[in-house]
Amino acid sequence: MEKAFWTVILLILCKVGTLKGDVLSEYGRKKSYSTDHELFVKEMQIKTNFDDLCAVPSDDLRFNCLQGDNASKETCLERGCCWNPIGNYGSGASAGPPSCYYPTNYVGYTVSEVKNSSMGISAELILSTKSYYPDESVFLFADVLYETDSRVRLRIGDSNRSRYEVPLNVPNVKTPALNRKYDVRISGFGQRFSLTVSAKSPSSNNTRVLINSTGAAPLIFSDQFIQFSTFLPSQYLYGLGQYRGPLLHNINWTRRTIWNRDQFVPVGNVGANLYGSHPFYLVMEEDGNAHGVFLLNSNAMDIDLQPTPALAWRTIGGIIDMYVFIGPTPADVIRQYTDVIGHPFMPPYWSLGYHQSRWGYKTANRTLEVVDRVRAAGIPQDVQWNDLEYSDGQKDFTTGYNVFGDQPALVAEIHKRQMRYIMITDCGISSNQPAGKYPPYDIGFEMDIFIKNYTGDLLVGKCWPGETVWPDFTNPKTTDYWSQMIQNYHSKVPFDGIWIDMNEMSNFVDGSVHGCTDNKYDHPLYMPHVTNGSLYRKSICPSARQYLGLNYNVHSLYGYTETKATYTALQKTLTGKRPFIISRSTFAGSGHYGGNWNGDNHATYVDMHSSIIDILNANMFGIPMMGACVCGFLEDTTEQLCQRWTQLGSFYPFYWNHNERWYIPQDPAAFSEEMAKSSRKVHLIRYSFLPYFYTLFYDSHVNGDIVVRPLFFEYPNDKNTFSIDKQFMWGPCLLVTPVLEEDQQQVSGYVPKDVWYDFYTGQKINGNGTYQTLDAPLDKINLHIRAGCIIPMQNPALNTVKSRKNRFRLLVALNSALEASGNLMWDDGESIDSIEKGVINRLDFVVQKRTLVVSMTESGYKTERMTLGSVDIFGMDGKPSTVLMNGHRVKFSYDSTNKVLQITGIAENLFRDLVVNWK
Ligand SMILES: *[C@@H]1O[C@H](CO)[C@@H](O)[C@H](O)[C@H]1NC(C)=O
Ligand SMILES: *[C@@H]1O[C@H](CO)[C@@H](O)[C@H](O)[C@H]1NC(C)=O
Ligand SMILES: *[C@@H]1O[C@H](CO)[C@@H](O)[C@H](O)[C@H]1NC(C)=O
Ligand SMILES: *[C@@H]1O[C@H](CO)[C@@H](O)[C@H](O)[C@H]1NC(C)=O
Ligand SMILES: *[C@@H]1O[C@H](CO)[C@@H](O)[C@H](O)[C@H]1NC(C)=O
Ligand SMILES: *[C@@H]1O[C@H](CO)[C@@H](O)[C@H](O)[C@H]1NC(C)=O
Ligand SMILES: *[C@@H]1O[C@H](CO)[C@@H](O)[C@H](O)[C@H]1NC(C)=O
Repeated sequence: MEKAFWTVILLILCKVGTLKGDVLSEYGRKKSYSTDHELFVKEMQIKTNFDDLCAVPSDDLRFNCLQGDNASKETCLERGCCWNPIGNYGSGASAGPPSCYYPTNYVGYTVSEVKNSSMGISAELILSTKSYYPDESVFLFADVLYETDSRVRLRIGDSNRSRYEVPLNVPNVKTPALNRKYDVRISGFGQRFSLTVSAKSPSSNNTRVLINSTGAAPLIFSDQFIQFSTFLPSQYLYGLGQYRGPLLHNINWTRRTIWNRDQFVPVGNVGANLYGSHPFYLVMEEDGNAHGVFLLNSNAMDIDLQPTPALAWRTIGGIIDMYVFIGPTPADVIRQYTDVIGHPFMPPYWSLGYHQSRWGYKTANRTLEVVDRVRAAGIPQDVQWNDLEYSDGQKDFTTGYNVFGDQPALVAEIHKRQMRYIMITDCGISSNQPAGKYPPYDIGFEMDIFIKNYTGDLLVGKCWPGETVWPDFTNPKTTDYWSQMIQNYHSKVPFDGIWIDMNEMSNFVDGSVHGCTDNKYDHPLYMPHVTNGSLYRKSICPSARQYLGLNYNVHSLYGYTETKATYTALQKTLTGKRPFIISRSTFAGSGHYGGNWNGDNHATYVDMHSSIIDILNANMFGIPMMGACVCGFLEDTTEQLCQRWTQLGSFYPFYWNHNERWYIPQDPAAFSEEMAKSSRKVHLIRYSFLPYFYTLFYDSHVNGDIVVRPLFFEYPNDKNTFSIDKQFMWGPCLLVTPVLEEDQQQVSGYVPKDVWYDFYTGQKINGNGTYQTLDAPLDKINLHIRAGCIIPMQNPALNTVKSRKNRFRLLVALNSALEASGNLMWDDGESIDSIEKGVINRLDFVVQKRTLVVSMTESGYKTERMTLGSVDIFGMDGKPSTVLMNGHRVKFSYDSTNKVLQITGIAENLFRDLVVNWK
């Protein structure tokens, strides 16, 4: 013990010694270098006390100065930074504290003016320390905009030249919020620029410091390298997608890199940049409050995390346009965030059903055979999909009669079964067909809407059909082009929704058939840590030109702009019906127009678990309609994995089974009879919950509420929930605990401190905030209902057209005060404007004093019957002697073991108020 202690002391002494030597011997060089700086660039103030300035009290306070990977003493000191190698210094994620870090007095920019502005504060900054990145801005503006009481926007940009900004349609606020729940400070005149955003904790009045750049890495603002860094109030950080890794980030010297890429997930590579860009994080603070930050920036970027706790944004373009959401609950943060990026779209009811797909049906007839075998097994399905094999030579907007067969007849058959049809559309348009033979190219060429290369010719790459060009969705004309293509195709193949793929953009050659240039866009000096170290590997050149600017800036918006254009096209095509779009690539705001799945996964238990994390993240990113290829896209699945995944998938918002052509069929009827039976069982459960799920989507669309949520959203004061990503909740009421490992008949599930009921039996569980072992035979997924909830359900059927006509059921879960409440939104499930026009019904359900009151608070949708067929009440305090419904005695049954009251066989018109009481 004692010996170890002294070793530590000795090591510390040695370290300090080394530091001194380095600094002294290098100081002269440093000084001579700094003489040729611009007029405004001051010399580093390191003359006498450089070692003090480098002696940060803890390694966690080192902020990486050498943003490249090749840290060397020489380059470090050239930058006026401290060189003090320790541990695993250098590069990569999990690298440990950097060897080269900023001295505590590194100035960056000083503040030359701070004044009040019409929207808040407006400051001017002057460059004071050269950063060694070329083309630095000398004068910056820093504007603080008090947009709402709970949202503040911070904009830092070049005062003298306008720069690229993300063309997202964010709120344009003209008057400052008056009852602000936050306070923003910019450090005073003549000092190093720093900024703090703080708020009061509603429960304690303690100050919550949400953003504090004082003493973190300095502000750098050059043409191709921008850095903004802040301390974090806690280590509980979420978001920053899309990535593979735990829901709760490990901020111990890790890094997230954002740049959209067609990238199946390398197992264990938490650093890899994936299909979507979501520069948004949510922090759970120590006392259970939450805040969020969104950096509205679409350039390639790194986000470096360190255990200080602190974070540094390092982006290679645009400006700093940052929103801070004050919370204070995590749900508030998501509402505040989606107020900026757009609330989620309202999905059609049928899209909540089961979607089935695969690449490898080969023909229309085979596609229908699989539909019919699933149907014959009594397994509900709403939507059948086809991958590109339906087409002629993998070209968009064609159908391949010769190989695939009669696609229009297939769609007609699917419609006859009251189901819907979706097919894939890739973004690459075949560019080498004979003139006049392929209108999607000819018309696009004529309209001049394809992406150009740096020298202004069409950029040609390769995708599924061979040589391709890409529609430029930042060009408004492209929406007209795309609408024309989609409408024309729909007149032949009357599909119901679209699956847009390969829109990262994915390219089978690097850059283009001509490669890329060697200019600064294709090869930026600071290269964020993208896979393969190249921005154009498997994609098009950053130097390519889109209508809104260089692909360098807008690359990661491609999926977003395509989703948006597709939404407009579907509005025109499906007259009056809600568009349904699933896109592989996303950006912040994509959820306003469509849904997403997590890309090419593998048929493994690890990937099954990861899908939960991806769904929870997408829900925080405002994309509640999220799924994953159930049973796995790549590799052969196994029956047991597929059975467990079918149970989990039945609680995905977007429930889709899809796989690759080389692997075995994995539709739920492809395996044993037991597997089909258990799939049927869990599909029926999903379908019975759809009225509740649909209402959650309505709340999300109207209020920005989160649909599927991590447990900490409901239990923000219970730190045990912060890292839970093997369980999740649907809304506030349903807790899902899937089995995620092979050959398990039990599952360990966290049961938050609350009263819960087993969904299957109504048995009460007193949650005490511990893990409990739950029985999980192969045909069961654990579902728990939270006390205090009333869940509207409906008797299930083979598809939603049928189930929507069935009787409703209320599942009442009484709390300890014997009370509960819930609500329902019901409309025709597909009209695009039913909510705007008020053609909806809303019902409230309340139980108090042994009385259930059902009342319709809005009744704009009168055309369909709504009939209540049964009520189940969990958590009774004893068997009632009578149950009265609107004053009339009704029959009931009572389970005295589990204390469940069941009222069945009723047919109450829900358009009339209903009172049920029991004594
Ligand atoms: C970093 O160092 C390695 C090994 O010395 C070298 O191969 C690589 O080119 C260097 N990278 C940069 C960006 O200088
Ligand atoms: C917070 O401060 C306000 C104003 O001083 C006071 O009215 C309120 O009671 C305080 N709340 C708490 C929880 O301390
Ligand atoms: C910001 O961080 C610095 C350095 O840790 C600290 O001295 C300062 O008090 C913090 N500011 C606020 C408002 O907490
Ligand atoms: C952070 O990483 C270091 C080095 O790998 C390790 O010693 C330390 O325990 C880690 N801390 C946490 C909180 O994971
Ligand atoms: C597909 O099925 C239809 C109806 O059974 C049949 O007429 C047709 O020949 C089949 N097509 C192929 C390519 O097998
Ligand atoms: C652009 O495309 C043209 C024609 O295909 C080609 O000649 C030229 O080299 C390309 N420019 C770049 C920068 O790749
Ligand atoms: C929590 O509840 C479980 C199940 O009832 C019980 O086994 C466990 O001992 C309880 N733990 C605590 C800390 O109360």
